[in-house]
Amino acid sequence: MAKDVIVACDFADAKTTIEFLDKFENNGRKPFVKIGMELYYAEGPSIVREIKARGHRIFLDLKLHDIPNTVKKTMAVLSRLDVDITNLHAAGTSAMMRAALEGLTRDDGTRPLLIAVTQLTSTDREALENEILIKEPMENVVMSYAENAKNSGLDGVVCSPLEAAKVHEVCGKSFLTVTPGVRFADGDKGDQKRVMTPHEAREQGADYIVMGRPITAAADPCAAYMRAVHEFLEE
Ligand code: C5P
Repeated sequence: MAKDVIVACDFADAKTTIEFLDKFENNGRKPFVKIGMELYYAEGPSIVREIKARGHRIFLDLKLHDIPNTVKKTMAVLSRLDVDITNLHAAGTSAMMRAALEGLTRDDGTRPLLIAVTQLTSTDREALENEILIKEPMENVVMSYAENAKNSGLDGVVCSPLEAAKVHEVCGKSFLTVTPGVRFADGDKGDQKRVMTPHEAREQGADYIVMGRPITAAADPCAAYMRAVHEFLEE
C-alpha cells in the first residue's frame, strides 16, 4: 500500500462525522479515515460500513488487548467489516498477535493490514519504570515490541515520527510506520508534545501520517488536508 495521509475522525457521533466528510464531496481526493474508540463505541459497525460505502479507506483504531482466543475471534468479526488497517497492543504478546492474524485472515487468504501499538506516547519514563515496572529505556522497549510484532507476522507499528527511521532500521523498510503527532509548522500543537511536520515525517520515512485536529478543526478542512497531502506526498 502506498504512503498516505490518514485523517483521525475523533468525533462523538455519526452525524458530526458525516457532516465533516460531506466537506470532501467535491474534493478530488477522498481522505483515508481513522475511526477510533469514541466513534466506534458510540455508533458501532454501521459507521464503518457507511464511511466505507462513501468510498473512503479506513483505519479502525480499536487497540485490542486481551487473551489470544478473544482477540482472534474479535479480529474475525472486524475482518468482515472490510477495513483497510486495524490494530492491537504489542504488549498482548506474540501469542496474541499471531492469534489476531489468524482471526483477521479471511477464507480467501485476504486480510486488512494489522499494526501494533508499542508504548503509548502518553506513557512516560517514570510510569514505565514505576508502574509498568520496565526498567529498560523507552527506545529499547519500543524497538523490542516492534520486533515482536514483525516476528509475529504483523505489517507495522504505530509510532512517533521521531521513531520511524529507527523502526525501519531494526525491522526493515517494508515494515509500516504509522505516525500520529504531526502538526503544520505554523499550527497549534494542542496536547501533542513531540511533533513533526508532514514534510519532516516524510523525511523520517513514515509510511502513513495520522492527523486529527489540524484538519478536523481547521476553518477549511479540505485545504488543510490537501496541504498535508502536498507536504507529505509532495503531490
Ligand atoms: O488531533 P491529533 O492530530 O492530535 O490526533 C492524533 C490521533 O492519533 C488521535 O486519534 C490520537 O488518539 C491518535 N494517537 C496519538 N498518539 C498515539 C497513538 C494514537 O495521537 N501514540
